[in-house]
Amino acid sequence: MSRITWHDGDALTPDLERFIDDWSRRPGSLIMVLHRVQEEYGYVPREVAAEVSRRLDVPLAQIYGVLTFYQMFRLEEPGKHRVQVCMGTACYLRGAEGLMDELKTMFGVESGGTTDDKMFTIEGVRCVGCCGLAPVVMVDGEAHGHATPEELPGILAPYRDREEPESELREVLEGAESWNDDGQDRNTDSSAEDDGNQSRSRNRKGGTGRRAGKKGKK
Ligand code: FES
Repeated sequence: MSRITWHDGDALTPDLERFIDDWSRRPGSLIMVLHRVQEEYGYVPREVAAEVSRRLDVPLAQIYGVLTFYQMFRLEEPGKHRVQVCMGTACYLRGAEGLMDELKTMFGVESGGTTDDKMFTIEGVRCVGCCGLAPVVMVDGEAHGHATPEELPGILAPYRDREEPESELREVLEGAESWNDDGQDRNTDSSAEDDGNQSRSRNRKGGTGRRAGKKGKK
């Protein structure tokens, strides 16, 4: 299901209204409704939480209690792409923390944060079920196994939004990539630039060659 962008003042979608009305008559409806809201918008916007409160006749404070208790719920709009570093035991022992540190440095946000251009959200997650590929980075549901901090720019490059060529993120990623080939700054040498482009092309086609598993896109 594709995510809908919420703007303050928007009305709920007819599907969501129907879902809430159906569930309002059942016990334990609150969690189901909040899940459905998050599925729709990618998070639970403040105004929608207030609307859920009204329709289910549940105090808003109780709704915020649920939203903040369960880690799966988001109160802020996530980025277009979700980058998850598996912090399960196998991945942790094989360098997951270094991957997370590198992402924080690349994007200038903490775990759970979203880049200013709303392109990427990074977060640590528990075991994603492919420990043999540890350490694993998931991007939009795609698993990238045996990942290293140096490979992260190449892994993330294909997910960049090419509609926004002026994005600061593009500069960050390209700057990082330019130092990945034998420690040489490819921007200072045209032949080195060709090599770098080929390298990026390989990454876009097959990432690191270790990608596994594929789920549907948003
Ligand atoms: S611990 Fe990372 S996939 Fe299991």
